[in-house]
Amino acid sequence: MRRFVPMLLAALAFMVAGCEKKTQPASSDTDTSKQAAQGQGGTATAPPTPEGTPPPPAASDTLLLGVATSLTGGQATFGVSTRNGIELALKEANEAGGVKGKKLTVRVYDNQGKPEEAAQAVTRLINQDRVILILGDVASSNSLAMAEKAQAAGVPMITPSSTNPTVTEKGDFIFRVCFIDPFQGFVMAKFGRENLKLSKVAVLQDNKSAYSIGLTDVFTRKFTEMGGKITGVESYSQGDTDYRAQLTAIKKAQPEAIYVPGYYSEVGVIARQARELGLKVPLLGGDGWDSEKLYELGGTAIQGSYFSNHYSPDNPDPRIQKFVSDYKAAYGGVPDALAALAYDAANVAIDALKKAPDTSGKAIRDAIAQTKGFPGIAGAITLDEKRNAVKPAVVLKVGDGKSEYVTTVNP
Ligand code: PHE
Repeated sequence: MRRFVPMLLAALAFMVAGCEKKTQPASSDTDTSKQAAQGQGGTATAPPTPEGTPPPPAASDTLLLGVATSLTGGQATFGVSTRNGIELALKEANEAGGVKGKKLTVRVYDNQGKPEEAAQAVTRLINQDRVILILGDVASSNSLAMAEKAQAAGVPMITPSSTNPTVTEKGDFIFRVCFIDPFQGFVMAKFGRENLKLSKVAVLQDNKSAYSIGLTDVFTRKFTEMGGKITGVESYSQGDTDYRAQLTAIKKAQPEAIYVPGYYSEVGVIARQARELGLKVPLLGGDGWDSEKLYELGGTAIQGSYFSNHYSPDNPDPRIQKFVSDYKAAYGGVPDALAALAYDAANVAIDALKKAPDTSGKAIRDAIAQTKGFPGIAGAITLDEKRNAVKPAVVLKVGDGKSEYVTTVNP
């Protein structure tokens, strides 16, 4: 009898980990991720999966998906929204009978917003947990680290919201359900030139983020092509708290706006310091601003600024309003774009799992690649030959505690 105890414990651990995590504090997920890092010492305890060979299914009565996202750290709201959106989609799918007669379960690891942690988490999801598919992450730098591992192991990965073009260039197992930054950067350049009639704009980029560097490049090129002038590009590093030197240099050049393609955690503080220095011009940004924390951090200083995003929760489309109210009922807040895209990514994954002849990595990959006109909350999803979604973007104006829809820009 005694030798069954370890087996029972293992089974129990699996079931607990497979359950929804929303009742557990984010820190417990952090611990799990740390254990992964420590336990493996940078390599997997299980033998590495040979290139292109899918791992076996996790259990006979469930299909296990893996998620690695930022539940703690500077971009914590990104991860929490992402996890919530995925869990909501899985819950609905399970209530509707699951997939191939099996229930869907998900294991979620916190990557703390760090690419190294993100890579470790994916290694563990693949080699130890034997997930059949990976969802994540938000910040492109994390997804780049994850995509490398998923591609090498032949496990399909869908990033809901990473917009840097190089993420899906990691290989044919890597997909995304959002638009890419060459489009997003164009959207803000066009909006700045045509709607706001700007002719001189400064740029303040995060030089630690692949996303920010990529957007800076596109925006400066497009804005210049459209006849505008870039007064200069200043840089900061994610986690900095004092931006006065850069803002002082920007002020001297007298721009009519400042493009800040960063994450909300820094953008809110940048807005306040800009106002303190007497820089009254609006800030312009991208989807990385999308967080309830932006309003808290930026206060009145960020109001009247504009950013490009994937969807607006104010869209009257009944499908979108149903999602907003279901999400509110489950989690108690208005879903941001991360939640909507995570919900969409999980639904695209579920749709592919239903259509795939089996649950091997290749079969799932081929089914995802067929995604056409899938009705997402953040727009219809058709994946192109580069495994990217081509969709419209919205421009939002920051108000008091929420953002207002301004316009939609089509690709
Ligand atoms: N697009 C951002 C990136 O690639 C992530 C992001 C998406 C953040 C949507 C907020 C909303 O890094």
